Parts: sequence; structure tokens; C-alpha cells
Amino acid sequence: MKYRSLTRLIPAQDTSDGAGVRLRRSLGQSPFTRLDPFLMLDEFSSNDPNDYVAGFPAHPHRGFETVTYMLEGHMLHEDHLGNRGHLRSGGAQWMTAGRGIIHSEMPQQESGHMRGFQLWINLPAAEKMKPASYRDIQAEDLPIADLPQGGRIKVIAGTATLGSTQLAGPIQGLSTEPIYFDIHLPPHAIFEHSIAETHHSFLYAYEGNATVMGGSPTEPTEAILPHRAAGVLSEGNLLKFRAGAEGVQLIWLAGKPLHEPVVQYGPFVMNTREEIEQALHDYQAGQLTG
Ligand code: CO
Repeated sequence: MKYRSLTRLIPAQDTSDGAGVRLRRSLGQSPFTRLDPFLMLDEFSSNDPNDYVAGFPAHPHRGFETVTYMLEGHMLHEDHLGNRGHLRSGGAQWMTAGRGIIHSEMPQQESGHMRGFQLWINLPAAEKMKPASYRDIQAEDLPIADLPQGGRIKVIAGTATLGSTQLAGPIQGLSTEPIYFDIHLPPHAIFEHSIAETHHSFLYAYEGNATVMGGSPTEPTEAILPHRAAGVLSEGNLLKFRAGAEGVQLIWLAGKPLHEPVVQYGPFVMNTREEIEQALHDYQAGQLTG
């Protein structure tokens, strides 16, 4: 029995992407801040339309998956496959770029709060060139359960176990076996859950903060997970944390590492330089998507 400890903090940095959307990027600020298989985590959160209204006009991806989880707001996704999906408060979108996708993500609001996350998850070499696919997940299709000490858990990927209840998210069966939970706790409440021992895992608190309670029962450790930093966790088969004095709202991610070389050029993530050159060539020749 080993509780995971906090081993590294990657504070979010202000940046912008797309046509000038303001973002806070934690994972993926540089090649040294990835956590295999997770490539990047962006949080967007603003009341000011100037920060988001320009959106993400048509752009390509190849070689990985993008997951958008919307806390508040409304965006329209359109892609070359003819998909049109409305991403609304509390919903998610899981897109497998595979061989190639060209899509846009445009805000459908001119005022109000726009808030959420975009996560990039790598694909194994054997799946990088599979056909693109896309899933729109409405808020009502994400299971939510109350927690014993108050608060609640919402499951986007993987399965949460609460006593004898299994809460299975809509995303299951991927090679990286991701879990993606959104957890809210009231002040000082404790959350505990099992996890695959060697999966790479991190937390990101978007409201309040928490204390990660790691180590073993004989050698406990405690470390603060501050607001707005990716908190990378050690290996271990359990996670336990306590909400701070103002409570906490955080996302918890875990995935099976690929242990494969990563070569990234903007929106293309492959295993070798030659494959990146091929992606650029295919994109310029209008053949990215096959
Ligand atoms: Co995109």
C-alpha cells in the first residue's frame, strides 16, 4: 500500500494560442514539462470576450488526441469530416486526430464567462496514423456522484469506485487507459481513491488548493498542491488529498506511459523527425487527412 506523493509542481504560465485566445499552460510549456502520455494542459478562464472571442480558426492535428472539457461557455467544433458539435457548460469533446484532422473551435458567445480545459494525450506509434474520430459528450452523459465527506466527483474517462458503486465515464478502452475526474470538495474534506500503480498521474486545482497526503502509514508525507499548477505525483496505488480552507475544485488525470520518443512540431506529434517532415509535406499537399 503506497500513497502517491507530490513530486513536482509545474505552475501554469500565461500564453495565447489560436487567433489570440488567452490561456494558462502548465504541462507542455516546454519539452521538459510533459508527463508521458500527457503532452499539454491548457486552462482557459475569462470574463473578458477579448480574451476568447477570436477562437481557434481551422487548424490541423496529427498523432495524438485532444480532450476539451468545458466548465462554462459555449463553443462550436467543426471538422473536415463534416462533424459539427456544440460544446456547452459541463460537456466534453474527445477528438482522436490520428492520421489527421482539420478543425475549428469557435466561441458561440460574445459575453460572459468562458472556462475550461484542453488536454493533449499522446497516441502510441502504432495508432498515430489511424483514421481521425470525434465524440461529443453532453453534460448529462458524464456521471456524477456525491462524495462521503461532501462535494462530488464527475467522471469523463475511466471508472471511479465509491464504496460498492462503480461510476464509469463515457471514455473507456483506450491504449493509454486514461482516467479524467473532476472533483469538488468542501473545506478540509478528504478524498481517497485507488489508482493503477505505475500510471503517470497529476492534479490541477482550478479553485482553491489541497494537501496531497502521500507516503506509507509509517512514513507519511504532506505537500501543498497550490492553485493553478500541475502537481505531478509519484508512483503508488492510492491517492489521498485534503481540501484547503476554501475547499478545492480540481481535475485528476492518470494514464499509462508510452515510453516512446516524442517529436513535436506545433500541432503534429510523432516519433521521428522524418514523420514530422512527412506530416508537413502531407499538410501542404492537402493530404494530411488521407
Ligand atoms: Co485543435
